Amino acid sequence: MEERLKVLRSHLAPFPPGASQSGLVSQTTSAQPREGHADVARPVSVTYHARTGVNSREDYERLHRRSIQDPAGFWADFASDFHWERPWRRDHARWNFDRRCGRVETAFFEGGRTNIAYNCLDRHIASGRGRQPCFLWEGNDIGVDRRMTFEEVRDEVCRLANWLKSVGVRKGDAVAIYMPMVCELPIAMLACARLGAVHTVVFGGFSAESLAQRCADCRSKVVITASGGARATKVVPLKQITDKAVQLASKDGFQIETVLVLEHPSVPKRECPWRQGRDVWYQDVVPRQSSNCPVEWVNSEHPLFLLYTSGSTGKPKGVVHSTGGYMVAAAVTTRYVFDLQPGDVYWCTADCGWITGHSYLAYGPLLCGARSVIYEGVPSHPTPARCWQIVEKYKVRQFYTAPTLIRALEAHDDKFVLGSDRSSLAVLGTVGEPINPRAWNWFFEVVGEGRCPIVDTWWQTETGAAMITPLPGAWPCVPGSATLPFFGVAPVLLDDKGKELHGATEGILALKQAWPSAIRTVKGDHKRFEETYFATFPGYYFTGDGCRRDANGCYTITGRVDDVINVSGHRVGTAEVEAALASHGACTEAAVVGFDHDIKGQGIYAFVTLHDGHEFSDAIRKDLVKTVREQIGAFAAPDVIHWAPGLPKTRSGKIMRRILRKIAAKKDDELGDISTLADPSIVQGIIELRGK
Ligand code: PRX
Repeated sequence: MEERLKVLRSHLAPFPPGASQSGLVSQTTSAQPREGHADVARPVSVTYHARTGVNSREDYERLHRRSIQDPAGFWADFASDFHWERPWRRDHARWNFDRRCGRVETAFFEGGRTNIAYNCLDRHIASGRGRQPCFLWEGNDIGVDRRMTFEEVRDEVCRLANWLKSVGVRKGDAVAIYMPMVCELPIAMLACARLGAVHTVVFGGFSAESLAQRCADCRSKVVITASGGARATKVVPLKQITDKAVQLASKDGFQIETVLVLEHPSVPKRECPWRQGRDVWYQDVVPRQSSNCPVEWVNSEHPLFLLYTSGSTGKPKGVVHSTGGYMVAAAVTTRYVFDLQPGDVYWCTADCGWITGHSYLAYGPLLCGARSVIYEGVPSHPTPARCWQIVEKYKVRQFYTAPTLIRALEAHDDKFVLGSDRSSLAVLGTVGEPINPRAWNWFFEVVGEGRCPIVDTWWQTETGAAMITPLPGAWPCVPGSATLPFFGVAPVLLDDKGKELHGATEGILALKQAWPSAIRTVKGDHKRFEETYFATFPGYYFTGDGCRRDANGCYTITGRVDDVINVSGHRVGTAEVEAALASHGACTEAAVVGFDHDIKGQGIYAFVTLHDGHEFSDAIRKDLVKTVREQIGAFAAPDVIHWAPGLPKTRSGKIMRRILRKIAAKKDDELGDISTLADPSIVQGIIELRGK
């Protein structure tokens, strides 16, 4: 605890020079030309009429005020859109965020019984939408696609649920899902939910060790996987990895008993390793099951899923989400944040292995009756135009992605974007990391043709749903700012002693009121849950993020508090230095870490990748340093610029700073496991450019 407080104490930087203010009451501007501007975080007003009816800050404030004053009543109004087998109690919302007052807990819709799979599928079928498509699947290879209607998905969910029952899966049991992005992945999630079983999706980029560890932690005796997965020109041998995971788990004393394997064309049956008695082909057993499977009604607080997430310490935590509260929050945020209406074509590029894929690819869009695009491959395959070709093909209205993808696509010629018709796009969204204004402006101007609001959504695996986010059309967007709290969200900024700060300021972001999709516990370790999230500042949920608030009440996330570097007593947010570097015309992306510095305590070490057509040179190096000096201050100027052919990222696009810290410290022999990187060979490439 003391260690964490030390980190926090060092986090509280003064308001950085030139920090962008939302300026919602000041002048707003429309799209800027691309050259020479793009790093300015000026508010941008877009004329957009939201079908939700929230079209001004006043509209929003009325709803937000009520959501804070009367959470039970506010959320009950939305929950009544769903089917509840038994209604919730009037006083259904309850929480305690203060350990000193007893067990930390949250409950919403207590007394109610429901089923999220029923609400995602059967409810729409009952209202006549059964023959409408809900999944628009696009394969890795051009020309390979599949549409599934609500009815078809429901039938397949029932068949798979019946098979799960046949192998002994019961309400409350955990089931691991380790699959590529095919329709059967969300179908498997829904099949578990139909039975009241608890799914834990393990992202297909995780190693056998990670899969084994997760299965053992949640005692999942069944794994649903595929023979392989296709990612651009690569094949991911999922079954082979699963076999290794089963072995590793058994060494640790846990037996995975059944492996259900979907045959995927990337690894045909005859090439797939097989273990008789344990492995079962999906195509052999599931189609034979009945498409009728009675729904298991569960209490609102019954766990829906577990999702493992890494923190700054210890092994990954199994974040537990509930059924009723999660369902309502996922649906309401999807509807308001993306202005999503039934029948809309919506594309979230996240993999179901992450929380974004759970809430905004699978559950949220289905609950709203929308059509969700599911893309199997990588967005730049076979060319950087693929993303926009998919937008044109399906006439995507809402497009939700991560800044890292935007930056990767921005590095290529605009012709890749401009070659496809994007007139269907109405709302753009980003999530997962701070977005630098330059990438934001490119997304806004080039992709969205200057007419689509961008919703920069801040949230976490633990929050289950978007927490701080613009609502399209309700107030101006501000590049890099998540702007205002969603309904029911009560953010505060704290100093290192836990004192609430007021007005325009910077501090540690915490939440002082529960919301329906809040994490309920950490699987098997409620004490760890309380210590991780509620011990630092008793009475508050600790987010681990630093944040600025401007005079208009708008929030800008500055990055994890544990990524802060202290240089000569000046605290520098790595995200800020990175944004400054990325604003340079030659720079595609930058990652900054601290390193031990004899004089300054810590120095700033920047890994920089350049756009096609730019050569690594001293002139660019000097210019990059100058850009940072100009935008933040001399104290934030990088001591080292280390050219990089690319940055070491996980398959979900997160930069692995742990590796960069070791390279910066010249501890090349201590890099640890790099097998989960999208491209492990990048590490050697970076090392070779040291000192160049
Ligand atoms: O630091 C924040 C960053 O991502 C963290 C949560 O990561 P994860 O649990 O993997 O969930 C990612 C998808 C919801 C946060 O603590 N983060 C998330 N969204 C944003 C963000 N940072 C800045 N801006 C965002 N919009």
